[in-house]
Amino acid sequence: MSILKPRILFVTSEVYPLIKTGGLADVSCALPNALQQLDVDIRILLPGYPSVLKALPLVEVHQQITVFPHLEPINILASVMPSGKTPIYLIDCPALYQREGNPYQDQHGKDWPDNALRFGLLSKVAALFGQGQFLFKPEIIHCNDWQSGLAPTYLHYAKQPHAHTIASIHNIAYQGIFTPDIMPLLQLPPESFGIHGLEYYGSVSFLKASLFYADRITTVSPTYAKDIQTPAYSYGLHGLLAERYHDLSGILNGIDTDIWNPTTDKYIFTQYDTNNLAGKAENTKQLRQKLGLEPSHYKPLLGMISRLTYQKGLDLLIPIIPEIVNKGAQLAILGSGDKELETELQKLAKMMPGQISITLGYDEALAHQIEAGADIFLMPSLFEPCGLNQMYSMHYGTIPIVRRTGGLADTVTDATSENINQQTATGFVFEQEDSRHLLQCVERAMTAFRDKTTWQKLQRTGMIKDFSWRGSAQQYLDLYQQLIK
Ligand code: ADP
Ligand code: GLC
Repeated sequence: MSILKPRILFVTSEVYPLIKTGGLADVSCALPNALQQLDVDIRILLPGYPSVLKALPLVEVHQQITVFPHLEPINILASVMPSGKTPIYLIDCPALYQREGNPYQDQHGKDWPDNALRFGLLSKVAALFGQGQFLFKPEIIHCNDWQSGLAPTYLHYAKQPHAHTIASIHNIAYQGIFTPDIMPLLQLPPESFGIHGLEYYGSVSFLKASLFYADRITTVSPTYAKDIQTPAYSYGLHGLLAERYHDLSGILNGIDTDIWNPTTDKYIFTQYDTNNLAGKAENTKQLRQKLGLEPSHYKPLLGMISRLTYQKGLDLLIPIIPEIVNKGAQLAILGSGDKELETELQKLAKMMPGQISITLGYDEALAHQIEAGADIFLMPSLFEPCGLNQMYSMHYGTIPIVRRTGGLADTVTDATSENINQQTATGFVFEQEDSRHLLQCVERAMTAFRDKTTWQKLQRTGMIKDFSWRGSAQQYLDLYQQLIK
């Protein structure tokens, strides 16, 4: 092991607050910060999206590098994250990244047609760092999800000594699958195209490539690490993962309590803590007003903030929304994604005005206000690698309703009477993937909500629980040290 600080390149396709579509961005900001505090020299590599280039002061550190012969030469720019803690490198390649909007899709929700090249470039530049071609010479290339998934392949076939690799799975449902004609375009060795390689049912899978060639594999919760070794959750990759189980570990995500903290949160209406839950009630009142919901002192307000996709269990929730409202609850939902789900939600909001609020789109401030103002948070996911919103909720005294899967199973303790008495209960958990069980769970939560003593016990238990990154960052450091040894 080097006596110097471990040198890590953290490769990602999104990072808060520069560019975000989901939890990967939150983790890509918070985990490197936590590792910096453990004395790790960790730096981020991100595509140079226009919003990012605009937001940061930049220095050109490497100029006019030809990565692929058919692509214009790129520059590598350097800066520091807005937190002032973590250095960041950006790939300046206007032909691929100079587009407004989402990193993965155009404004109609269609994948960018050249995503293989856009993220092949990210992977290849990460590999060049790993081959010691630039000033910063990392000992480990830490890849995240499919977008950086080819880096371990490039390094595996590199002639000279190179960095070790880690592949972190944040969501196995997204694999980056492309037709094989991208092989020559991305200068991938033909011999890597096979079952023992990056081939996946006749196509190229970026994610499979990373799981096959990386030295170690992590995912974002211990239960999801087990889930993805089974056919039900693996999206076809259980065989490979079961073979590699010695190299696979689940390290639970944490939350960034500088950003998600009801005592300091600048987005919410009134700050509060465990000794001042009246402050939370004020947030509920203001949120109802902002969203046009009827004022109420006794109806629980159920919140949800979500990418609107199959994963998040909307198919379980939507059919029972009228019944939940008829039982005396209100709903505040913020999300965007699947157009059909968006339309169905809008229809329901029109049917029950004053009781249901649907906000479509991405809204950082409203996300914080829902976490602070809702009484109950809905997360009935069909699968959930980790999930951050249930942890934000508990930290804000907002009791989560979750399905027992992945990271939700690892972070929420069901409110059985035994767990409530032992002050370990933090939420309501259901098992089966169907609307009836979700409805029963909502009813359980609504009954508990009427008993203020029990409710405040649940709130306080969640609010004081340690969800910080400290322990998990240490586990990543241990893994880095094992590899560098
Ligand atoms: P996932 O990464 O699967 O989307 P997570 O729970 O890990 O789920 O993280 C989701 C993150 O994205 C949270 O920070 C959440 O607040 C945020 N988020 C999701 N949808 C929206 C939205 N429409 N507006 C604002 N923030 C959102
Ligand atoms: C993914 C997962 C989510 C996880 C996040 C960060 O988007 O869907 O469960 O919390 O990545 O790891």
